[in-house]
Amino acid sequence: MPSLLITGSDTSVGKTIVTTLLASYLLGRHPQKVALYKPVQSGKGDWEYYAEQIAPYQPREEICAQKFVLPLAVPLAAEREGKTVDWQLLQQGYQRLLAKYPIVLVEGAGGIGSPVTWEWTVADMAREWQIPTVIVVPVKLGSMTQAVTACALAREAKVDVRGIIFNCVHPYTAEEIYDFVVPDRLPLLTHAPILGYVPSLAAPPTPSELAQIIANLDLQTMGLQEI
Ligand SMILES: Nc1ncnc2c1ncn2[C@@H]1O[C@H](COP(=O)(O)OP(=O)(O)OP(=O)(O)O)[C@@H](O)[C@H]1O
Ligand SMILES: [Mg+2]
Repeated sequence: MPSLLITGSDTSVGKTIVTTLLASYLLGRHPQKVALYKPVQSGKGDWEYYAEQIAPYQPREEICAQKFVLPLAVPLAAEREGKTVDWQLLQQGYQRLLAKYPIVLVEGAGGIGSPVTWEWTVADMAREWQIPTVIVVPVKLGSMTQAVTACALAREAKVDVRGIIFNCVHPYTAEEIYDFVVPDRLPLLTHAPILGYVPSLAAPPTPSELAQIIANLDLQTMGLQEI
């Protein structure tokens, strides 16, 4: 069954924005056939947002397997509550969704190198779960180093990286985006394709804006084309 992990080169790079765009598009075509999964969350935010705004057909208890209160690295947030991250629980939650829904979109916590436990990172999770992965990288001065280091870690961890999505957290001109990303040269360093760009959004996109954004993303390489 198709699934996709949306991770990032860092925290706060737009993973939730990208996941929401993909989910909105896919749910618009196939209501009830798309599940969202945030395996573990520290602090408030994503799973509440998904439960309330994006995944109306999905029981909210399915969306996140473990939640910790403090907005810290996941295993540290767990420790501060006298708990541990339950790897089996996270994996079982994922497998249940895979068995129930035709497509599962998973948002990782933090960035690709963020710890899920004190032994394993998000990259290790991607490998262990054998989940195709996209890396969200913010468009900014520093985009290239973020992309190269994230892809190097993914390669080392043997992650099935489908490519990079560049996200304009802030509005930039086409020339500025080129200069930050240098898209015709960067893949020589990342060894991963660029799957597209998400523009800076002042508000949730209208259906036609959403269609335009999705048309600029390479769904086929993500494995979502035929869904
Ligand atoms: N394309 C965009 N246009 C406008 N604002 C954006 C865009 N991408 C991200 N942002 C803003 O940047 C912030 C971080 O985005 P988002 O929550 O999607 O990141 P994240 O990687 O999911 O973060 P976290 O690591 O907390 O899960 C949010 O306030 C979001 O609204
Ligand atoms: Mg998020």
